[in-house]
Amino acid sequence: MTAVRICDVGQSEGKEVLLQGWVQQKRSSGKIKFLVVRDGSALIQGVLVAGECSEESFQLFERLGQESSIRVKGIVRKDARSALGYELTVKSIEALQIAEGYPITPKEHGVEFLMENRHLWIRSQRQWAALRVRSEIMFVIQDFFRNDGFIRFDPPILTPTSCEGTSTLFSTNYFDEKAFLTQSGQLYGETGAFAFGKVYTFGPTFRAEKSKTRKHLTEFWMVEPEVAFAELPDVMTLGDRLISAIVTHVLKNCTAELKILERDVVKLARYQGPFPKIHYDEAIKILQKRGFDVPWGEDFGAPHEQALGEEFDGPVWIHHFPAQIKAFYFKQDGKYALGADLIAPEGYGEIIGGGQREDSAEELTKRVLEHGLNVADYQWYIDLRKFGSVPHAGFGLGVERTVAWMTGVEHVRETIPFPRMLNHLRP
Ligand code: 4AD
Ligand code: MG
Repeated sequence: MTAVRICDVGQSEGKEVLLQGWVQQKRSSGKIKFLVVRDGSALIQGVLVAGECSEESFQLFERLGQESSIRVKGIVRKDARSALGYELTVKSIEALQIAEGYPITPKEHGVEFLMENRHLWIRSQRQWAALRVRSEIMFVIQDFFRNDGFIRFDPPILTPTSCEGTSTLFSTNYFDEKAFLTQSGQLYGETGAFAFGKVYTFGPTFRAEKSKTRKHLTEFWMVEPEVAFAELPDVMTLGDRLISAIVTHVLKNCTAELKILERDVVKLARYQGPFPKIHYDEAIKILQKRGFDVPWGEDFGAPHEQALGEEFDGPVWIHHFPAQIKAFYFKQDGKYALGADLIAPEGYGEIIGGGQREDSAEELTKRVLEHGLNVADYQWYIDLRKFGSVPHAGFGLGVERTVAWMTGVEHVRETIPFPRMLNHLRP
């Protein structure tokens, strides 16, 4: 008998099936025993009743600890009360391994404990749901770009240079020289845009961030589109379309997961672009009106982002930041950088950061020097501006912040299988 995945049992209603999975929960009510089995695709409740189920299985039931691995045979029956819509009348159970003392019980546990047991915690319902949504988001992002004529362009992870400032670099020995873990694929993405027109890089990126917030990881995934012959407004439009595609896909394909996570889907459905686009100067005025003491020229912190999210009751683009607070590669318009950040509502903060790139070799060289970087290291990057330079632009979308926002999960540590954070390298 070939095993059926629990999510597919509906196709076998009234028939006997073989399921294989793990014991999630069990309880007894008089002579009837209940066994909740999970197999990674869904949960099903098995019911053991005398007469229908073998005597050995009844005895085995008593010995099954949480997370014991089992094979179960039984008849699939419709059950309107369960989330799955079906339950199983158990005929027999076989144990592959009997587990004892599983550390994560249905009672509440502290975050530290759960993080130490992350290898097991991912089996819990909410973690399971959030990571499935992540997987869907990874797919829809690639689908979106492929359908839009982009090619995937994979940048190196070991790099000799910084992209987002030298203070958050992780360094490692690279034979006789120093190398860094990439902070962003952007600079390489720009070479790809000049070779292919439209590319996106997609991979893990690293920042030695000392910040302990709900939004910061030291290893996070970023998707970075880069487009030749594009300017600042094009980047915001592309971001609007990407976010809308993600929201639509998640609402359509992750209903069960969003329910487990108790995500407010009515709110989520409202996040369809185009989103409002406001100048940094206007954002400063709004913040000052709301009582923040934030002078012109400063970057926004979490409370400012929260306030802007509330003001617009949805995602909002802030563009034309003061050049002094932005990276070396931005094209400038006077004292402003042609950059834009998309701030998510509900306190999820900056989801997208991007803009238009400096396209003059001379200006860029000046900028590299001003930022205390070594021109020789960036010569290949400056070269792009000497051999057919064109206006070009792109952005980076942080996957974990996006997943947190879509799922309503408070902290990004629950949106990646094994989060890396300040003080967190294990397991
Ligand atoms: O704004 P950032 O630093 O932009 C760049 O890296 C550009 N080079 C991207 C580009 O234009 N190609 O980062 C982009 C996004 C942020 O908006 C945020 O979503 C995410 O990456 N991000 C982080 N996510 C989790 N933990 C961190 N420490 C993050 N730092 C940035
Ligand atoms: Mg940023």
